[in-house]
Amino acid sequence: MPSYHLFLLPGDGIGPEVMAEVEKVIHAFESDGLATFEIEKGLVGGCAYDAHGAAISDADMARAEAADAVLLAAVGGPKWASVPYEVRPEAGLLRLRKDLGLYANLRPAVCYPALASASSLKPEVVEGLDIMIVRELTGGVYFGEPKEIVDLGNGQKRAIDTQVYDTYEIERIGRVAFDLARKRGNKVTSAEKHNVMKSGVLWKDVITALHKREYADVQLEHQLADALGMQLVRWPKQFDVIVTDNLFGDMLSDVAAMLTGSLGMLPSASLGDQNPKTGKRKAMYEPVHGSAPDIAGKGAANPIAMIASFGMALRYSFGAGAAADRLDAAIASVLADGFRTADIKSDGCTLVSTMAMGDAIVSALGKSA
Ligand code: NAI
Ligand code: MG
Repeated sequence: MPSYHLFLLPGDGIGPEVMAEVEKVIHAFESDGLATFEIEKGLVGGCAYDAHGAAISDADMARAEAADAVLLAAVGGPKWASVPYEVRPEAGLLRLRKDLGLYANLRPAVCYPALASASSLKPEVVEGLDIMIVRELTGGVYFGEPKEIVDLGNGQKRAIDTQVYDTYEIERIGRVAFDLARKRGNKVTSAEKHNVMKSGVLWKDVITALHKREYADVQLEHQLADALGMQLVRWPKQFDVIVTDNLFGDMLSDVAAMLTGSLGMLPSASLGDQNPKTGKRKAMYEPVHGSAPDIAGKGAANPIAMIASFGMALRYSFGAGAAADRLDAAIASVLADGFRTADIKSDGCTLVSTMAMGDAIVSALGKSA
């Protein structure tokens, strides 16, 4: 049986509540004989600040570096609203992404059949939707220099952000997208604004050349990022894998996310480079949602985003695609049976707690074993 080392960071707010449910799922797979999971836990976010004055300690960073995968729930909350900027809860997240070199952010938007009518779009537009947004996460305008506010001395200030991309950054995110497409619908849509941005010109050129050189078997199309935003709400099923930069990806992945319902349903993966010797990638898996302080401690949080994030770990870190499919099917069947946490409740459904939702998914998994 293979053995994997998981580092769990439950974080703040509803984080520990949803992490407890994913632990049940991990144990269920272990009992089934899929693998043994060696589990370590650490602190990130506000709880880490309370414990040692940093949003993540060096010791926990070292554990994250050593793990086969990191599962993180959520950080932050009003309790830490006034802590210094450098040690605010989100700084823990940013350090993990940066120090682990997690440059590829994968955000699937999947519409479970039972929830098609919960979307703000018509059911026929979203039913069966299964797309993957691949967002570049460590470059672009969020990190480019200069980045400053300059006092012009005449009562005016000037704010400067800089969009910077090098060839290698575009190539490596392009590879992630093409490799994913080969295992899915074999189509990549690349989004930029080459009509008004130099970084868009380079982006399009590099993706086009990479495609020609290494991925000619995959269908490639280019769309301007704003037009793609329109297409996402018009007919999202035209897409398979979308690859785009940090800023456009931030917006487009949020739009895609909402096609399918609640924040409580959305997983994500952040991947780094593959080690050529071991074939392993640094990877962190986390729900898209935050610490939801408004419902923390009430047993009302939806654990599906966290559980589906572990499903992505099965698929992308542990090569266990069949197990990931089983987990997705278990989630779909629990939803089809009418189980709903408060965030996705609808008429005629059974309202359940965080724990009851976790138990129902574990039980559905058991039936499919
Ligand atoms: P949020 O995602 O925590 O909550 C937004 C709304 O969605 C709330 O009404 C919440 O109750 C609901 N919600 C979120 N997750 C849910 C779940 N699993 N089940 C049911 N309902 C859910 O975003 P918000 O309120 O803007 O931020 C709260 C705190 O979380 C802030 O401190 C923020 O900085 C932090 N945050 C952390 C993130 C992370 O750790 N990756 C991401 C976003 C926000
Ligand atoms: Mg965002």
